[in-house]
Amino acid sequence: MKNAQGNTAVDVVLFGALGDLSRRKLLPALYQLDLAGLLHSDTRIIGVARHDYSDEDFVSFTTENLNTFVKEGINEDVFKRFVARLVYQQLDFKETESYGALADVLKIKNCEHMYYFSTPPAIYGDITEGLYNAGLINPEDRVVMEKPIGHCLESSKVINDMVSKHFKENQIYRIDHYLGKETVLNLLVLRFGNSLFTNNWDRNYIDHVQITVAESVGIEGRWGFYDEAGQMRDMVQNHLLQVLSLLAMEPPADLSADSIRDEKLKVIKALVPITRQNVKEKTVRGQYTEGFLGGQAVPGYLDEEGANKSSSTESFVAIKAEIDNWRWTGVPFYLRTGKRMPAKHSEIVIHFKEQPHNIFKDSYEDLPANKLTIRLQPDEGVELQVLNKIPGIASQMNIHENKLDLSFSETYEDERVVDAYERLMLEVINGNQSLFVRRDEVEAAWTWADSIIDAWSASNDKPKPYAAGSWGPVSSISLIARDDRQWVE
Ligand code: BG6
Repeated sequence: MKNAQGNTAVDVVLFGALGDLSRRKLLPALYQLDLAGLLHSDTRIIGVARHDYSDEDFVSFTTENLNTFVKEGINEDVFKRFVARLVYQQLDFKETESYGALADVLKIKNCEHMYYFSTPPAIYGDITEGLYNAGLINPEDRVVMEKPIGHCLESSKVINDMVSKHFKENQIYRIDHYLGKETVLNLLVLRFGNSLFTNNWDRNYIDHVQITVAESVGIEGRWGFYDEAGQMRDMVQNHLLQVLSLLAMEPPADLSADSIRDEKLKVIKALVPITRQNVKEKTVRGQYTEGFLGGQAVPGYLDEEGANKSSSTESFVAIKAEIDNWRWTGVPFYLRTGKRMPAKHSEIVIHFKEQPHNIFKDSYEDLPANKLTIRLQPDEGVELQVLNKIPGIASQMNIHENKLDLSFSETYEDERVVDAYERLMLEVINGNQSLFVRRDEVEAAWTWADSIIDAWSASNDKPKPYAAGSWGPVSSISLIARDDRQWVE
């Protein structure tokens, strides 16, 4: 059922509706879609969780969180319309009988269903089975699965198998919210819309690439979950590899879901395995100790609330990744990501090769190479470092390194940077899988990540300490310095 704007009426069923992701991201994203007029008037939002809540409790919960997390403030009219969509259903996820009550709620409208699994992945199978037994899975329904899907390749297969028993691959939306970020999507336009970059994007022109995803936050009450995962499973296996694959993939035939996903998969499969033999040379893992952030003292990882004092889980990872294919052989991709770093700051820096010959030797001895910086967040933008002559009458060429800078906030000052979850929810409602991860991609990413995790555990080395508020362990500087290069700070 679509309205005049082409939006489909759906029952959005949020499993884990009272959790952190729902509070911070999912409910605010749905509110923003409503504000933008992108939700059909018959669309409902059905919060499902274990707690004994009434519809009114769920409305109060949602109100409080929208007030906290919608930065622009709430529009009263839209808010009234939005809360009228809310319904709450208590459910014991593992109890097949309890799905009957959910079925009663869903039958009232008989819309298409968008099931959003924002619970621990280990129960995705139970929920799928419960929905199936209650007759709640129809061919037009879709299911959204939050990462991490599993803990390793084997466990991801088990979860995917359980969900695939009753949902076909074209109904499954594996979410990686980095794929919904404005700047990550812009990689496609930058690379394939500009001949300047289409033609210079390979081992002949590029010396190396750096991808940094730094966060100043620590574990924030998620110690139990995080300690099981660590930065490798929480960030590298998914977000960083997705960014890397968009950056390195061949031009897709078109923008269809499978054309893009086929190309990303080839990149992940071409990553050179990091094994017990070379893990020390190619990776660094770190764990933060106490330090200062924004002038405030913050505790170390092992002193966070609920911490197991002997944990050797990493909160920082640096990797020298290599892609063995025609385009990229010999071009390292240095990845770095961590918690409790000096700032929230994510960027990609493409370092082009130096000029083979310098005709400006008299005024500028070493011509620096061009650098393309793609600022993912915050302060989204694209910046190209170029050399320029300083205006003046002097016969000598005075050369200056300068920037062509496209800042999103200045260039598109009237446009709001859409949150990734808003875009991705809308894509699910409209049934477009391009920005979601296919099963074979998840499995290829686990294969590569598992080999590193195995090598770390076999080595028995503890993660290297780094002070909260610093850029990671000293050995992450050596990782890149060994190749005569340095991180962009
Ligand atoms: C999540 C991770 O997927 O991404 C979190 O589980 C991390 O640990 C978050 O903080 C970072 O997302 P963003 O959009 O703030 O960069």
